[in-house]
Parts: sequence; structure tokens; C-alpha cells
Amino acid sequence: MTADFNRRKFLFGAAGALAVVTASKQGVAIAESSPKITRLKPAYGPAAGIAKLNANENPYGPSEAALAAIQEASASGAYYVNESARALQAMIAERHGVDPEYVALSSGSSGALVACAVSAGQSGNILGPDLFWDTTSKSVEKQGIAEITRLPKTPGLEIDLQTMYESIDDSIAMVQVVNPNNPTGLLMDPVALRAFCKKASAKATVLVDEAYNELTDMPQENTMVPLVKEGYDVIVARTFSKIYGLAGMRVGYIIAAPEKIEAMSRYGIGWYGLNQAGLAAAVASYEDQVFMDASRAKIREGREMVYAALKENGLSGLPSQTNFIFVDLGSINAQTFREEMAKENVLIRGIYRDYTNWSRVSMGRLEHVQMYVDALPKVLSRLS
Ligand SMILES: Cc1ncc(COP(=O)(O)O)c(C=O)c1O
Repeated sequence: MTADFNRRKFLFGAAGALAVVTASKQGVAIAESSPKITRLKPAYGPAAGIAKLNANENPYGPSEAALAAIQEASASGAYYVNESARALQAMIAERHGVDPEYVALSSGSSGALVACAVSAGQSGNILGPDLFWDTTSKSVEKQGIAEITRLPKTPGLEIDLQTMYESIDDSIAMVQVVNPNNPTGLLMDPVALRAFCKKASAKATVLVDEAYNELTDMPQENTMVPLVKEGYDVIVARTFSKIYGLAGMRVGYIIAAPEKIEAMSRYGIGWYGLNQAGLAAAVASYEDQVFMDASRAKIREGREMVYAALKENGLSGLPSQTNFIFVDLGSINAQTFREEMAKENVLIRGIYRDYTNWSRVSMGRLEHVQMYVDALPKVLSRLS
């Protein structure tokens, strides 16, 4: 076999034949033995020496408690998840002061978010800002059942709630806000958002994606969960993928009226998206204040490092309440910047939509943030 062979990723086709599908520079997939019996060596995270700052993960997780729980639960992997799912559902319900029927767990929050989108898509379009985490809502477009209607751009990249309210016409079934928003990292004023949700939910369902809520300075003040309890047509999504450091364990949830959850269950919410190890990790992490505080401190330190480096290099980023910063690259193209950073072993995001000069960087381990800081002047001098 040639070296080239080792760089290829092989998959078995339906008939058991091998198919070459892609090549990987980092050797993520390594083919061994004969071409007929190919074993893939799984890579569970970035290779050593790579600063993976492109997916807003918290690499300080899973916590010690979560790791122990994963090990214990994996030994019971033969069993379906009914009991463990109920345990997590009850914990979440208690924390938010709702009955357990108001909580639907899913495989990451993406599982529930797709169900929200597809369920709403049956009766109309989804209204969102120009820039938001739209990955799950795009499923309505992919399925050809509805569209995402986007608001005009705003100069500061913030969400214009007044225009959003005025844009809810009969074609709109669901309004989606992400708070704090991804990729901007901007947090909305909770008083203004609450007033918006109350008014807007009279016209359409309002989905508030709070994936980064626990990272904000005042999570309690920023959440819209109380509106669900008060009976407004509001759905709140949360995830264990961010502050809890469990992105690969795939656990998330929504808080919504039971009839809403029931209606959505047709489109993919249910026990079948859950697994013992993920549930165990989530249960063990949910009340681990020490781990969360430590993670928050690292994230804040990382943000300060990035802001300082940007300033030193004549750039700036939006004020973030999350574990990522949206950087204004001025005249530099974000895709070129990404490619040059990758040459320094720093992985960041490329262009969003037509925001060609904006670049998102996540806060990883501090030594990886330091790699971004060190690479910045080198890359900028190459591009100037
Ligand atoms: C705003 C937002 N919501 C939801 C998700 C989905 O995360 P998960 O499915 O892992 O919960 C992400 C992931 O980056 C996100 O940024």
C-alpha cells in the first residue's frame, strides 16, 4: 500500500464493496490490513498540537463526575434508557420549576430544534435575523416544506426586535431567536426580549435557542423559560454541549407546553435519540457548579486573551457573552484568513453567508487560545 492509501478514508458500500470517499490530511481515518478488511481508527477529538477553535465546544469537559458516570452507565448499555431519561427530565424540570411533561430531551438540542422547525414548517415559514444559528431550521428548506425568512442586516449585527415583530405576517409559523446569538456572540437585553416574546407569541410560536445561556454573566435574568410557564407560545432550547463540555455525548432539551411537545413528537423527539452514557454524563454535570465555574473562568480568560491580541494587531471583535468571538477582519477575507490560520494548526470558522470579512473563533483550552494569539500577527503580516 502507498502512503496515499493511508490518507484515504474508506467506507463499505451497501454490497460490502469498498469506496474511497475522501482524503484527510490529519490521517483521521487510517486503513489497516488488506483492502478488503479495512479498519478505521476513530479520532475522538483533534489531533495533538491542533487548536480546534471552530465549533464552540468546551474542551475542559467532560467533568470528572461526568467521566465516572459515563463509565458506570456504559456498563448498562444493553438496556434502553427509560429510567435514566426520566431521571434527567425530572432534574431539569425541578431546576426550571415546571412539570416534567414540559421537558423534552433530545440528541443534542439539534434533535429537538429540527423537530421544532419541521413541525412549524407544516404551517408556515420560519422568521429569523439575517445571521443566526440556522443549521437545524434549514431542514425545512432541505425538505422543501417551508422557507427561512430573514430580516435585513443591521449595522452592528444585532437583532432588530421591532423589525422582527413587524415582519410576522400570516406566512410565518415560527420566529427564531438565538440568545446569545451565534456567530455574533451578542446578548440581547432581556427586558426587551421578554416584551418581544410576549407580543410576538400572539402571532406565531417563538423559539428561543439558549444554547449559551449558562455562559452569560446573568443566566437567570437572561432566560425566557418563565414565559413558557406563564403560558405564552414560547419554546426554549438548551444543550449540554456548551458549558457542560458534552458536545460529543449528544444531550439537549427543550422546555415547552406539553401539547407543543406532543405535536412535535411526530417529527423526531423521543427516547430513541438518547443514550445511557450521554444521559449519565448530563445528570452528573447538571449540578456540578465547581466544574461550571471553572469552565466559565477559563472561557473568560480566553476571551480576554483574544480581545487583547486583536487590539494589539489593530482588529476588534464584537462583545461576546459566549465561548466564541466574532472578529471584524477589516479588509481581510475570512476564508483566506481561515486557511492561513490552519497552516499554523489553528482551526477556526470561515465565511458566514455574505459576511466575508467576519471570522469566528471559539475559546478552547487556554494553550490553544494562545496558539491563535501567537498565529495572529504572523498570518496578518502574510495577508497584508
Ligand atoms: C445556538 C446553537 N444552538 C444549538 C446548537 C446545537 O448544539 P447541540 O445539538 O450539540 O446541542 C449549537 C451548536 O453549535 C448552537 O450554536
